[in-house]
Amino acid sequence: MDFKLSETQQDIAKLARDFAEKKLAPTVKDRDEKEVFDRTLVDEMGELGLLGIPWEEKDGGVGADFVSVAVACEEVAKVDPSIALSFEVHTMLCSWPIWKFGTEEQKAKYLKPLAEGKKLGAFGLTEPNAGTDALNGSTTATKNADGTYTLNGSKVFNTNGGDAEITIVFAATDKSKGAKGMSAFIVEKGTPGFSYGKKEVKMGIRACVQRELVFQDVVVPAANLLGKEGEGFKIAMMTLDGGRVGVGAQALGIAEGAFNKAVQYANERIQFGKPIMKQQAVAFMLADMKLKIETARWAVYKAAWKMGQKDVKSYSMDASIAKKYASDIAMQVTTDAVQVFGGYGFTRDYPVERYMRDAKITQIYEGTNQVQQMIISGFLK
Ligand code: CAA
Repeated sequence: MDFKLSETQQDIAKLARDFAEKKLAPTVKDRDEKEVFDRTLVDEMGELGLLGIPWEEKDGGVGADFVSVAVACEEVAKVDPSIALSFEVHTMLCSWPIWKFGTEEQKAKYLKPLAEGKKLGAFGLTEPNAGTDALNGSTTATKNADGTYTLNGSKVFNTNGGDAEITIVFAATDKSKGAKGMSAFIVEKGTPGFSYGKKEVKMGIRACVQRELVFQDVVVPAANLLGKEGEGFKIAMMTLDGGRVGVGAQALGIAEGAFNKAVQYANERIQFGKPIMKQQAVAFMLADMKLKIETARWAVYKAAWKMGQKDVKSYSMDASIAKKYASDIAMQVTTDAVQVFGGYGFTRDYPVERYMRDAKITQIYEGTNQVQQMIISGFLK
């Protein structure tokens, strides 16, 4: 067992850290307040090779691994959780299923530009009445005589929606078949009938976008069916296993970002003639925050490592543990960071209130933490 990151993993972490500190940090407060998603920042990540970390060079990637994706996501989230989410969805929820289930033609046409950062990816599963109950959606895909499919329905809360050129869309091809009646499609922006609806106004992750996707008689070529007809639900679930590793990494980064600010503040803030760090009440609070971060780190890295092992049959439970634990501690750590800052922590003059707002959604998306409990308990036989 080796707890040390490899040289490549360290290099990728440094690349992401430098990018986050130089390019994201100066504007993150402003973008949060104005609630804008600056696509050019994700494009810059593409130019650095950060959007194709785990894929082979032939597919436009850099040939690294999923631990490298996790550490990159963590580094970006330390500074800007919104851009970390855009990156995570692009990599784990859009590129991954094309890499895993795509044909060579689909990889050349879609995975390569995604990996090279020339196109942005999204993942459309959730619907107004099908959140946790993901199978219960009403978007349909009807097969036509010429082999094409016609999509009708809508998706909500779609990260990167409106900006993404490539979206993985899940739709029922035969509702009567239940989990075997859903299929996955690669849908391009600009396809006639594919439009965008409501843009969400949110508590946190305000510097990225979640939007409704609307499909009205959208004709998708047969060549854009991902995997086989009826494999969509399995593809969605397997994709979300990886996505949850990504959310775990994002949550870990959020916790660390807030913690670092709290430690700095505790060493500078003088009360009763000494830094508040010298008050045991504050020092012990920070010790517990550190403990939570370090234990979450290994849950996330282990799940990311397992995700890349060819001989591992399932990493669902590891992904759920990483996602649930890291997001729960992110909520606790960011709340405690506000507490360390006292009244100042509640103001927008300091970033800890933003981290606290950003942390909340990590307990909800890509499967609520109660869904993670369902998955973990399902393995306890
Ligand atoms: N890998 C492979 N197959 C899987 C699987 C996995 N991880 N999970 C389930 N399956 C298979 C099962 O084996 C089963 O197959 P069989 O019928 O052959 O046995 C089939 O899928 C159905 O499984 P379940 O009976 O467990 O399905 P369910 O309907 O009871 O749902 C659930 C289970 C875990 C609650 C699932 O619906 C779920 O994960 N819900 C949450 C959805 C979610 O995470 N949505 C987030 C969307 S993305 C997002 O958040 C947006 C964003 O921008 C970040």
